[in-house]
Amino acid sequence: MTKTKDPELTAKEQQLLDLLAKDGKCAIKEISTTMDISASGVVDLAQQIGDKGISIWKNGKELYLGSTQVEAAPEDVVIKSNELKVGFIADTILGSKYEQPTALCQAFQIAEHEGVDLMIHLGVSAGKPTPAKKDEFHKLTAKEQIAYIVANYPKSPKFKTRFISGHHDMQWRKDKTAVNILAEVCAQRDDLLYKGDWQANFRLRRSLGADIRWPVLKAAYHGGDDTPYSKSYPVQGFAENLVQDVEDLFADDMSDIVAVAGQGVFCDLSGGKIEHLFSMPGIRMVSPSVMKKKRRSVVPTIGLAILTIKFDKDGNFFVTKKGYPLSSIKRDYSEKISDDEAAVKKLNDDERAVINLLEDSPKSLGEISQALNRSNKSVVDIIASLQKKGMAIKEPQAGDAAKTYRLLIIPKSKFKASKINFADYFHTTLEEGAVSDTHFGHHSELLEILHGAYDVFAKRGIKRVNHGGDITNGPPKHAEHLNGEVREFRATALTNDVIALYPAVEGITTDAIAGDHDRWFQDMTGYDLLDQVAKVRKDIVYRGVQQGEKQQDRFITLLRHYNWGTGYARSYKPQQVIEDGILKEMDKEAALYRGKVVIVLSGGGHVFCAMLYKGIIFILLPCLQGKTGFITGLGKLSDVGFIIYSITHNKSGILTRFSIEFFDRGAEALALVRQKTLQREQKRLDALKVGLTHLKKT
Ligand SMILES: [Fe+2]
Ligand SMILES: [Fe+2]
Repeated sequence: MTKTKDPELTAKEQQLLDLLAKDGKCAIKEISTTMDISASGVVDLAQQIGDKGISIWKNGKELYLGSTQVEAAPEDVVIKSNELKVGFIADTILGSKYEQPTALCQAFQIAEHEGVDLMIHLGVSAGKPTPAKKDEFHKLTAKEQIAYIVANYPKSPKFKTRFISGHHDMQWRKDKTAVNILAEVCAQRDDLLYKGDWQANFRLRRSLGADIRWPVLKAAYHGGDDTPYSKSYPVQGFAENLVQDVEDLFADDMSDIVAVAGQGVFCDLSGGKIEHLFSMPGIRMVSPSVMKKKRRSVVPTIGLAILTIKFDKDGNFFVTKKGYPLSSIKRDYSEKISDDEAAVKKLNDDERAVINLLEDSPKSLGEISQALNRSNKSVVDIIASLQKKGMAIKEPQAGDAAKTYRLLIIPKSKFKASKINFADYFHTTLEEGAVSDTHFGHHSELLEILHGAYDVFAKRGIKRVNHGGDITNGPPKHAEHLNGEVREFRATALTNDVIALYPAVEGITTDAIAGDHDRWFQDMTGYDLLDQVAKVRKDIVYRGVQQGEKQQDRFITLLRHYNWGTGYARSYKPQQVIEDGILKEMDKEAALYRGKVVIVLSGGGHVFCAMLYKGIIFILLPCLQGKTGFITGLGKLSDVGFIIYSITHNKSGILTRFSIEFFDRGAEALALVRQKTLQREQKRLDALKVGLTHLKKT
């Protein structure tokens, strides 16, 4: 049914529309008074207008025009125990041929298994097709997409799902025929709650005293089909816009946790002005039109994210971010004969092979003949036999130069995924700690915090910790000693310091590499400081200069120390290193890496960022060095803290879960360095005083 551009409206209908047009919405009661009709009469009238193609939806006691942008009131999420688990799904483009309904169902299974309390889904529908993109959709109108989502969207008995409109949903909201597609879906399903457009706030409420502020979780959609190369760039920018003024930092509604959809990758950017900031993957494949648009690297990461927010008895909270990568299935929107066990049973091997080939894409006779290693005549016979068995295979069409056989595509009538066997799915887990850039010998060293980190590791039962390099500050290459910034820079004394002062905890082994600072001794005199340390300290394993590797079963950890400055986009260097370095290495030594999970831990950046990029987990490690004149001079503040990460693969060695915990110690570091600077200054003044008293006497 096509909609007329300007529907004929009655005087009453026009009056109602005019009332709504002012603010985009109006209270039913107010309309009732103004128009002198009953409240139910108002709703009926709105329905009549809707039938003429102008969408109006009822939200509680108000009527909204379909085109009105909706900012929902913050939701108070009541936390029963001390823990809340929130699942995040994004960019499902339901109604597009590139949607991934199987992965969506799997995400729901995983969320239930992991004990998610509420699910937030940003960006649900495929959006409005343009003539150029029409072929990428299997549901073309808003009406069709609404019906499709209502009928198929997974339903969980364990949690309700909040919908927030994203880029594609908002494409339906532009002109007179605007439809609020998610509001309409949610009106038809009890388990789905519409939470407005672009973003929504959730106040995490606990039954503590009234004076205790509730943390705010913001879920936001930021992005579109075109994104810049650096995946973290738009997310960082979005977070920065949330702080318009220094006052915002201390405001009551300031977001503590911000989850950003629309960039399509999992990237943890916590530790800045927004304490917990991360971007989530989507659940979709990249369509050809988007692929063409993106200037560089397209990274169609698919998956689910879950945040665990844990409160202690004082009301402090701690956030663990987990990512669950899922794999894509070509043409997942369509019904597949190969999924239908009963149908497959009736076919012989050749017939099954032809079905598999055609399900992937249309194929010519030659292509099928080559793939099966059978003659053209045999292939024609197999296809005839399949057609006889009721398989809808179409012969090459008149205008088709490639002369392809095609399988008739029928969109799925029901979303489903086979039940995940979680014992196999979360088969083996590796959990380790990581520290970096401790810079022993510089006055900004943070030995107290480093020891605190190992206390946390011990409490958590961690057996292995990684050090990303720059264990010492090395010789004073930047002449910091002339500024009074260095406590110790003699090679022997520093070696002894590390041996004596580096945390030694029963049962914990530390794998360490040398950073550039440690290496400077070697550059000057050939002295390898860490080699000496490891000879005495049996709990420290020296893995190499600037880089080292270790393999534990199917896990390969690459330790790296890159001497890069802290550029604005945090993910830029990790992405570049993966593209230009790691992926190439893996390609050259494919046998070594095949079937393994690769983790890159990089020191040297002094900032934190963790991402899953092209299947590789990259963690840019925060440092354990306080504020220094050198870094302050660059106008930057580094991230101070340490990491616990855990990585899980399934029975076949495929990455199925990873979690990152960033223990931010920025505040403690600033306080510690301030206190120590004062102490040193006091010491100097005391010495001066002694000198002066002595002078006066003589
Ligand atoms: Fe460093
Ligand atoms: Fe370094």
